[in-house]
Amino acid sequence: MRILSGIQPSGRLHIGNYFGMMEPAIRLQNEGEAFYFIADYHALTSTHDPVLLREHVRNLAIDFLACGLDPEKAVFWKQSDVVEVTELAWILSCVTPMGLLERCVSYKDKVGQGISPSHGLFAYPVLQAADIVIFDANVVPVGKDQKQHLEVTRDIAQKFNDRYGDGLLVIPEPRIREETATVPGLDGRKMSKSYENTIDIFEETEKKLRTKIMKIVTDSTAVEEPKNPEESYIVQLYRLFAVADEVTEMEASFRAGGLGYGHYKQQLFERIRDYFAPMRERRDAIAGDPGYVDDVLAEGAKKARAQARQVMDRVRAAAGLGA
Ligand code: ADP
Ligand code: TRP
Repeated sequence: MRILSGIQPSGRLHIGNYFGMMEPAIRLQNEGEAFYFIADYHALTSTHDPVLLREHVRNLAIDFLACGLDPEKAVFWKQSDVVEVTELAWILSCVTPMGLLERCVSYKDKVGQGISPSHGLFAYPVLQAADIVIFDANVVPVGKDQKQHLEVTRDIAQKFNDRYGDGLLVIPEPRIREETATVPGLDGRKMSKSYENTIDIFEETEKKLRTKIMKIVTDSTAVEEPKNPEESYIVQLYRLFAVADEVTEMEASFRAGGLGYGHYKQQLFERIRDYFAPMRERRDAIAGDPGYVDDVLAEGAKKARAQARQVMDRVRAAAGLGA
C-alpha cells in the first residue's frame, strides 16, 4: 500500500487539520509506504509574500515532525522540490474536461472568501491529481472537504488511462475517517482558518488556549438545567481527546444538569493542553536544530524525485513525448 497526503503551508495548524489529515497520516506510516509533502506550489494560489511562504513551510515541517511524522518511515518533502509534478499537471490538464473543474466547490468557496480567481486557483485540482498519481499512491488520508478533489483525481487518472492505456496511472482511494470527518470550530461551523474559529494545536500560551476554549459557542441553558450533549460542540471536541468512558461520563453529567458550560470547557482545555504537551516539547527541540529539518526535507526530496521520475517516464512515453 502506498499512502500519500499533502498539506498547504498556509499558517498555523489547527485541531481540524490535525485530526482530519495529520494524525491519520502519522498512524498510517506504520502500515505501508508513506509519502507526505508540504504543498507550497498550491500555496502560491493564496500566499503571495515569499518571506511568509518560506516561514510557513518551515513551521509546517517542524509541526509535522513534532506531531510524530517519522522520517525513517515516511518520505517527507516540499512539493516544489519535485518539479516533475508541474509537468504532469500540464499533461493531465490536457485530459481534464473544463466542466470537471467548473463543478469544484472549493474554487467557488475560495473566491467567495476573497482569494483572487487566478488560473492557478482554478487548476488547483489538476495539480493535486498530479501530486497523487505521480507517486502511484493508492490511499490518500484527508479531511472530508477534500473528498471532491479526490473524486476529480480519480476521474482525471481514469481519463488519462482511457486515452493512453489501461493501468498506466493508479486510481487512488480517499481515506476519510467518519469520526473526525469534520471537526467543528468555536462557532460550530467547520473549523477553518478562513472562518477564524480555530483552536491551534500549538497556541502561543496556555492562557490563549484557555481563552479560545472559553469562547466555544453554547446555548443559554441555565447552570442547574439538564443539557443536551448531542448538540454541544464542547462534547464533540472532547470526543477527539478523551476515551469512551470519559465521554460517557461527560454526557451523563450534561444530562443530569447542575454544572455550567464553563466547567466542561475547563475539562476540555486541560485535555487539549495535555494532549499536545509532549509534541510541543518535541517541537521546541526540533525548532532549535534547523539543520535537521533541512536534512530531512532534502533527503525526502531525493527519494520522492526518484519515484516521480519513474512515473514520468511511463507517462511521457505513453503520451508521445520524448524519444
Ligand atoms: P483550512 O480550512 O483551515 O484552510 P486546509 O484546507 O488547509 O484547512 O486543510 C488541510 C487539511 O486538513 C485537509 O486534509 C483538510 O481536509 C483537513 N481539515 C481542515 N479543516 C478540517 C476540519 N475542520 N475537520 C477535519 N479536517 C479538516
Ligand atoms: N488540497 C489539499 C488541502 O487543501 C492539499 C493537497 C495538495 C493534497 N495536494 C494534495 C492533499 C495531494 C492530498 C493529496 O488540504
